[in-house]
Amino acid sequence: MKILVINGPNLNMLGKREKGIYGNVSLEEINHLITKEFEGSDVKIDYFQSNEEGKIITEVQLSEEAYDGVIINPGAYSHYSIAILDAIRAIHIPVIEVHLSNIHSREEYRRKTVTGEGCLGIISGFGYYGYIMAVNALSKYFDK
Ligand code: DQA
Repeated sequence: MKILVINGPNLNMLGKREKGIYGNVSLEEINHLITKEFEGSDVKIDYFQSNEEGKIITEVQLSEEAYDGVIINPGAYSHYSIAILDAIRAIHIPVIEVHLSNIHSREEYRRKTVTGEGCLGIISGFGYYGYIMAVNALSKYFDK
């Protein structure tokens, strides 16, 4: 199983940004922890991060050529990017949305996820472990 993990704007700042909310682990370290978790399994994981909406859209569009599933944290774009939602809906592989924080316990404007409407499911509030949960969810999804 080949999975692409896409992280959106400001997630390259993890470990430095709002540590009280997002913790002090960098995105590079998180990606390493995810890879380590699935070492020796048949899951292969690639990573992509961009602060730009168009680049995220292109990556989503291309993903179905090379991957079985996508895990995406669109950052703030989650709350308003119909363009990323359309890209998610345009592809024919499952997409799981992950948020490090529990978006439902935060500001009103973070409680709605537009992009999540196109996803198989949403995992929110478990920090970086959410990405590992999402990989496991995709494994189960393909098992059945
Ligand atoms: C986030 C939540 C978003 O509201 C925020 O804009 C982010 C990170 C999360 O992982 O909790 O950048 O997606």
